[in-house]
Amino acid sequence: MDLNLDLDRNVPVLDWEPHLSSRTAGMGSSAIRELLKLTQQPDIISFAGGLPAPDFFPLREVEEACRYIVREDGRQALQYSATEGHGPLKEYLAESMRGYGVPAKAHNVLLTNGSQQALDLIGKIFIDPGDYVLTSRPTYLGAIQAWNAYEARYHTVRLDDDGMVADEIEHAYQKALDDSGRPPKFIYVLPNFHNPAGTTLVQERREQLAEVATELSLPVVEDDPYGQLRYEGEDLPPICTYVPERTIYLGTFSKILAPGLRLGWIVCPEILMGRFVQAKQGADLHTGTFVQYVANDICQRGFLKQHVKELREVYKVRRDTMLDALTEFWPDVCSWTRPQGGLFLWAQVPQAIDTRDLLEQALEEKVAYVPGVPFYPNEDGGYDAMRLNFSYSSPETIVEGIRRLGRALKKALDQV
Ligand SMILES: Cc1ncc(COP(=O)(O)O)c(C=O)c1O
Repeated sequence: MDLNLDLDRNVPVLDWEPHLSSRTAGMGSSAIRELLKLTQQPDIISFAGGLPAPDFFPLREVEEACRYIVREDGRQALQYSATEGHGPLKEYLAESMRGYGVPAKAHNVLLTNGSQQALDLIGKIFIDPGDYVLTSRPTYLGAIQAWNAYEARYHTVRLDDDGMVADEIEHAYQKALDDSGRPPKFIYVLPNFHNPAGTTLVQERREQLAEVATELSLPVVEDDPYGQLRYEGEDLPPICTYVPERTIYLGTFSKILAPGLRLGWIVCPEILMGRFVQAKQGADLHTGTFVQYVANDICQRGFLKQHVKELREVYKVRRDTMLDALTEFWPDVCSWTRPQGGLFLWAQVPQAIDTRDLLEQALEEKVAYVPGVPFYPNEDGGYDAMRLNFSYSSPETIVEGIRRLGRALKKALDQV
């Protein structure tokens, strides 16, 4: 046998590959991810991440809550705790969710390590290798990443300015059934200010989606991290309002308080709770007790309402700044969505330009975005699209970044 030696220690090097699960084979680093690492350099203006504005993190409130919790409740807050989550926080979330149209009770709320963990737990309890998931194209990259690990396959439904085209769901369902001989496991929906597209599912389509899901006996995963960040127009009822018996609703503190807390929640039919709890126990026993106490303290003091109002004002200005800058600096042949809230817009460039190639030119101009292709679970689109984040950078930086991107685009257009 040809032994590969670790020369420093004179022991055989282990070939890890045959020990790894075949599931993880597709989890390697992608060229885009490598390029996006460059966006962390300080001189690059990045529209790539989904980051909230750090200047508005509630530092004082978090500091006060930490001190208070350590003083008053330190022994419980630093102890192991229930997998379902901290009781008073579950009560708070259930009540605030009900005010928002999600028919939640404390016993059907489960705290998670951000919505991202909720997506992973959903994969864990629903997806067998080769199962189909229905979703929009494009869709949230992190969901694809979570469910690829469980070997999901996807049939997708088109998205337009009014959100997911509900008319196409039945067709996608049928294709999944034909291809695998079993129905798709669920439909994944981003109703408000879609990541990456920025679009909102209009009310008529929410009703239609609920009807189709009922007809097809299809569970709905409603992922709603941005619902409270609306900058214009009226709030729309969550899909959960129409079909609570078949909806798993996901919420998170990431965009309204701070993503570093890693705190999200699932609202699900009671019958699923046991499965979620078991899956979560295997993953991490429970979400950090201390962080739940801190978030609960901040929430119970009524801080969130005013804070979210302030965030809406700040992000609205940033969105408008980006929209104006796009009009001013980008070639007429490009187009983009006009989100009513959230953190992202989706821009379309002429088909002759592949936004994965353009990223290299953009990085030379010291500006970054995420190319569209990774948001297509079957990699069948998005070549001429990109996601732009407007929440992270200041208005002045947004103008400069869009100007630089416009320059990269014009250069690329001159070359085709
Ligand atoms: C649609 C969507 N779902 C889930 C997440 C994960 O959020 P969290 O920070 O709560 O894990 C994000 C984060 O950007 C998102 O955009």
